[in-house]
Amino acid sequence: MPYDRSVSADPHELAAESVWHIDVPEIRFGSHAVDELAFQLRDLGVDADARGLVVTDDDLVAAGHADRVGSHLADAGFAVDVYDDSEREPSVEAIEACAAFVRDETDDGYDFYVGLGGGSCMDTAKATRAVVANGGSPLDYVAEPTGSGEPLTASGPPLVLVPTTAGTGSEISPVAILSVPAEEIKEGISSYHLRADAAVLDPTLTTTLSPELTARTAMDALGHAIEGYTTHAYDSLLRATDPGTRPVYAGRTPLTELFSRRAIGLLSGHVRRAVHNGDDLEARENMLLGALFGAISGLTAGASLCHAMAYPVSNRYHTRHGETIAVLTPASTIGYNAASDPGRFAEVAELFGVETTGMADHEAAEALRDEYVQLQRDLNVLPSGLAELAGVTADDVDWLAARTVDSQERLLRCNPRPVTEDDVREIYLDALYNWEA
Ligand SMILES: [Fe+2]
Repeated sequence: MPYDRSVSADPHELAAESVWHIDVPEIRFGSHAVDELAFQLRDLGVDADARGLVVTDDDLVAAGHADRVGSHLADAGFAVDVYDDSEREPSVEAIEACAAFVRDETDDGYDFYVGLGGGSCMDTAKATRAVVANGGSPLDYVAEPTGSGEPLTASGPPLVLVPTTAGTGSEISPVAILSVPAEEIKEGISSYHLRADAAVLDPTLTTTLSPELTARTAMDALGHAIEGYTTHAYDSLLRATDPGTRPVYAGRTPLTELFSRRAIGLLSGHVRRAVHNGDDLEARENMLLGALFGAISGLTAGASLCHAMAYPVSNRYHTRHGETIAVLTPASTIGYNAASDPGRFAEVAELFGVETTGMADHEAAEALRDEYVQLQRDLNVLPSGLAELAGVTADDVDWLAARTVDSQERLLRCNPRPVTEDDVREIYLDALYNWEA
């Protein structure tokens, strides 16, 4: 959705935004919530004998989760097909392949869709439903200049997302992230029509996650929570001349701040337990709740600089999203952005459990960075910086900085502190080594 912080359709109407709203899917949460998936679908108006598609991947099939969901839906009377070819960090071609599967199997699409898995499976389900419902191909809906920038005009039949990781927040967000291999970039399709109708979050689906995946997705979730808490405020934007044209990343609000604060405490307080003892269901439940709250906050207020810098890295070096966020957060979200509002970062330090009594705000923000890095070290499974993550060297940062500024304007304009290409270069350099490995 085109939006510019500094330009209004009518200069006489220039004024600060004074209204916020929140739009999240219906949410069902808790142990064995997935056993209520059929109820949830019927509640969304899906007919008792409807035919649906579960979009997942072969890891989820191997873990038995796809079977569990498929049998549950079949027992409830639905006809269910399973598409288990979702790829990690899906490309435009991967979405085309899933949409082609739908068009081969049905006349005009399924009656409902379920996305089961991590962010990649859920994004595949979201983008596929959108492409089938609106026609054409994924690139038609990717922003210019990579795509045609056409708006989605239809949501399609009901879509329920069932995350099996505690982190990406795709079950809440109005965005699907796609890679465009020909251009070596990651792009988002961004639209209210992309958002799922419901999210079913069941911590019993997350106990099979490896320590590595648990740590990576947790760092992504923590990134959403902190970025959401420290991004620009909704009333620092220009007022939308039409309520329908408000951007999907609309700035922090009193409500998103509440969710951020709780998310930061839940995630930083339970991630060590969840990583070191995957069967700790209480820790898993708190992580899933923290990730949900982080997403409600960060993915409606808006992710910012760190996410903008992560996409060129993961595209060029094929690194995973969560670990990329993990290595970039100390230098970007905390190190660079703390100057935008040191008092707010001091609050984040307190939420992390840092003893800040007697510290000036900027000292508390520095202590937050130290604590965040210590947390990563304690998890034992995360890289110490961009160098260890992907062999990035000082020679690579010019390319990364140029690519960030060229391709990530959607996220950079949400950053609470103005940022230039030189700044981005310095932040990448700062992120090469967060500690000595
Ligand atoms: Fe993220």
